[in-house]
Amino acid sequence: MARFSALALGLALACAGVAAQSFPPEQVRKGADLYATHCATCHGPRLANPPWAADLRTFPREDRARFVDTVTYGKKGMPPWDDVLKPDDIEALWAYVVAGEGKKP
Ligand code: HEC
Repeated sequence: MARFSALALGLALACAGVAAQSFPPEQVRKGADLYATHCATCHGPRLANPPWAADLRTFPREDRARFVDTVTYGKKGMPPWDDVLKPDDIEALWAYVVAGEGKKP
């Protein structure tokens, strides 16, 4: 029975993941730290009130590829990060942005 519930829970999470996308808390936390260090100066503390860069709270959730591209190679006023951040770091930032500041563990 326990095994069945675990399976059902797994399925429920997998389905919810499509809509809400869930990430391991430690990945979101890592992204939050990286964000505070590298991104908050332009994008605002905790994603809020960006002084002059794009508001990441409104970044399209289905557009992970664009996020990774922009962060890696830069875009107009947005600097490239490929010499500072590893792909793992960028994934963590994506987790943080998508999981949302409000839902931060
Ligand atoms: C020097 C200021 C600055 C820093 C630091 C910065 N950004 Fe940006 N960012 C910008 C600006 C300006 C834009 C708007 C670019 C444009 O004109 O489309 C932007 C846009 C973006 C976008 C949206 C791009 C799109 O396709 O709509 C993302 C995602 C993003 N930044 C992520 C990050 C992340 C993650 C970090 C930290 C690693 C970061 N930025 C650090 C200035 C900055």
